[in-house]
Amino acid sequence: MSNRYAIILAAGQGTRMKSKLYKVLHPVCGKPMVQHVIDQVKSLNINEIVTIVGHGAEKVKEQLGDSSQYALQAEQLGTAHAVLQAEGMLADKEGVTIVVCGDTPLIKAETMEALFKHHEETNAKATILTARADDPTGYGRIVRNEEGFVEKIVEHKDATEQERMITEINTGTYCFDNKMLFEAIHNVSNDNVQGEYYLPDVIEIMKNQGEIVSAYVTETFAETLGVNDRVALAEAERTMKKRINEFHMRNGVSIIDPDNTYIGPDVKIGQDTVIFPGTMISGSTVIGSDCQLGPNSEISECEIGNNTVIRQSAAYSSKIGSEVNIGPFAHIRPDSAIHDEVKIGNFVEIKKAVFGKGSKASHLSYIGDAEVGADVNIGCGSITVNYDGKNKFLTKIEDGVFIGCNSNLVAPVTIGKGAYVAAGSTITEDVPGEALALARARQVNKEDYVGKMNVKK
Ligand code: UD1
Ligand code: MG
Repeated sequence: MSNRYAIILAAGQGTRMKSKLYKVLHPVCGKPMVQHVIDQVKSLNINEIVTIVGHGAEKVKEQLGDSSQYALQAEQLGTAHAVLQAEGMLADKEGVTIVVCGDTPLIKAETMEALFKHHEETNAKATILTARADDPTGYGRIVRNEEGFVEKIVEHKDATEQERMITEINTGTYCFDNKMLFEAIHNVSNDNVQGEYYLPDVIEIMKNQGEIVSAYVTETFAETLGVNDRVALAEAERTMKKRINEFHMRNGVSIIDPDNTYIGPDVKIGQDTVIFPGTMISGSTVIGSDCQLGPNSEISECEIGNNTVIRQSAAYSSKIGSEVNIGPFAHIRPDSAIHDEVKIGNFVEIKKAVFGKGSKASHLSYIGDAEVGADVNIGCGSITVNYDGKNKFLTKIEDGVFIGCNSNLVAPVTIGKGAYVAAGSTITEDVPGEALALARARQVNKEDYVGKMNVKK
């Protein structure tokens, strides 16, 4: 196998998106388009990846990090001009270079691998990945001669009426003999409707030089969708969502309503987990087996064990153990660690708190900046008073503690092992282990009060 290089085109503004956000950074299933492309390219055996950046260069680099090298295209003069910016980094290398657009997020590694293979088998100097489109509007068309060989690519805007009837389109992905690419690209002119240097023109140039130019037709047009506007973005989202959901269903995950379930591309889910409608799971969330998630839950960047139930709730950047029962209407905020067999009931908010094994906060509580031990029972309406307006303080609730309903635990404070806090208490001092803390006004009953009232009628 010859050396392989990749050039990702990501310098355009994406005028047709009508957005402040640079086109290739628009997310599809929660991940920026260009990141989808890079992730697929990375799984091929590539010696060097160069991403062409321009509009939003710093943001694109921040997103992709060191998974790519970068070449700056300061002015966007077209896709051929974009490739030219990699000349200093790649032009002298022997091998095959794949060029992929950063706005084709659905392209799969296996399709690119098949393109490389076709390119090598046909001894071509350039191979275009093409597809048949029901509606080819906007795409470059593949013009073939009578024998069926590729002659050139003509852009939609430059095409004649007859050429516009062609349904075979340029997907914007190509393999080139690397050295020949950087020679031919100097001969591309901008004599066209858009006044741009078109990369597809390299095909005709090579062909006219007598080189073998080939096309690999992929069966799946949907995979090669180029996202130029928000309508295509929504279509990409639909296709990607279907792909992700089907992957999980084939792996043994039940998704009750796949059209209404949103799972990020990097999420992992164990067997026999059931996902109910309206659920969004994102980031690098890992979910165990036999869980029940949803309906209408949002889970982001969490690690969840087995047999856990999360109903109508939100959980972010937290660790949640096995056999945990959360919701309905609970909110698990970042940096929480919920251990096994915990119950977090309705209208309970947990923030940056550890919750030990078997502990419960069943109703209407706020537990923030807290360390809760094992087998603790937090009564309805109890609150950790963690904030004095300037600083946050820690509440420690040791194993086996019972917090009566409607208690305020004013931090910093520690409730010792096995202690009881009487309902309605406002605790401002540490409570020793096994003690009962009462911190509320005593009740006074004034007998016959109503009769003694001097009420004028
Ligand atoms: C391009 C192809 C078209 C193909 C289609 C597939 C050209 C001239 N046309 O059209 O044949 O059918 O993709 O989706 O190549 N870019 C730069 N610098 C530039 C211009 C563009 O980096 O100066 C990047 C863009 O950020 C984008 C990619 O190249 O990621 C493609 O550019 P775009 O403007 O989307 O081209 P299309 O009109 O879609
Ligand atoms: Mg495009």
